[in-house]
Amino acid sequence: MTQQEKTSQVSGFYKLSIKKRIEFVKQFAGLNQEETKLFASALDEATADRMIENVLGTFELPLGIAVNFKINGKEYLIPMATEESSVVAAASNAAKIARLHGGFTTESTEPLMIGQMQLLNAPDVVQAAEEILSNKDKLLGLANAQDKILVNLGGGAKDLEVRILDSPLGKMIVTHLIVDVRDAMGANAVNTMCEALAPLIEELTGGKIRLKILSNLADKRLVRARAVFDKEKLGGDKVVDAFLQSYTLAVIDPYRAATHNKGIMNGIDSLIIATGNDFRAIEAGAHCYAARDGCYTSLTKYYKDKNGDLVGEIELPMAVGIVGGASSMHPKAKLSKRILGIKSAQELGEIVAALGLAQNFAAVYALSTVGIQKGHMSLHAKNIAVMAGATGNLIDKVADQLVKENKIKLDRAKELVAQFT
Ligand code: MEV
Repeated sequence: MTQQEKTSQVSGFYKLSIKKRIEFVKQFAGLNQEETKLFASALDEATADRMIENVLGTFELPLGIAVNFKINGKEYLIPMATEESSVVAAASNAAKIARLHGGFTTESTEPLMIGQMQLLNAPDVVQAAEEILSNKDKLLGLANAQDKILVNLGGGAKDLEVRILDSPLGKMIVTHLIVDVRDAMGANAVNTMCEALAPLIEELTGGKIRLKILSNLADKRLVRARAVFDKEKLGGDKVVDAFLQSYTLAVIDPYRAATHNKGIMNGIDSLIIATGNDFRAIEAGAHCYAARDGCYTSLTKYYKDKNGDLVGEIELPMAVGIVGGASSMHPKAKLSKRILGIKSAQELGEIVAALGLAQNFAAVYALSTVGIQKGHMSLHAKNIAVMAGATGNLIDKVADQLVKENKIKLDRAKELVAQFT
């Protein structure tokens, strides 16, 4: 596939055999034979044994591909590891609609992570805070001496911030070390630096450092995505209004916002897992960011533009890496990065944001129109049709009939397969 021919837009991808789907991805991403074989392989025991403790084996999840994604004018096939049906199909469908207005546009901040150092028992908190700030250069120098490679790559400790907090134990000082972690998730680099700074901060202030650890509220490492969803394609003004009514509940009510944001994470986590990243870190950062103004709310925003089309936007912290940890060790994580064709952690983070927006749009669109069960049921019917032996166009024919009869059962599917062939 040449660069000009390369498109992620494909219809009826689900009807292809797994072999044909792999062939498509192989052509798209320029995978070699060895890489192609990885799709059918499990993580080897020796690698698993190095990753965690007390290993007995591995635990598999389905790995699917979301199609139709165009982000900043570039074509992407997005690997998604998830146990939940409908998620991959919904993301692909949302991306198809977004393409009508050029796909997704994204942006991100520099990859700045925050490390926290908690200081207790300082004889004078104000003086201690001043002491830390006036020794900023010395502290940053010591932090950067811990990771010469990161500094050579243009990253490293960039700044210090000091907060004085009231607590049931009295006042405490929390020093934030701001570190540009480049293409890493950053936890190791940041934690090492914080641990190295602790004795110097104690010496400067006369206090005692207790906690020294990265913050998962990575609010200096943000990603944003935006897309326009065509009014006519959605079904007209009334549907856009219905969408905005549904969305508004997520803005005002934490009970709905939790579910709304869970739908966003359906997409986000699946790509985070497929690339060997830390989905708990992303979840923690996202939900905390959603409550940053004191009330938990939607991570996405929607409104109508002057043409009446629906505009969707998302902004959230994104501590992802493309080097280090499982992202460099797990063969399927490496394969996912090859399929994405990404050059930096920032690029990965922006794709994650676009996917989260797509997933959320698809869920709220379904909820505002036909409801969520219809999609689930038709997908379930397709799975049953395949289990009954249907292939190619027969899958849809059998599935449609099962849905029409409201009888999504394997024995009936087998009868239909026999009848239609
Ligand atoms: C289900 O996994 C996700 C949804 O509940 C999200 C939503 O309600 O927006 C469908």
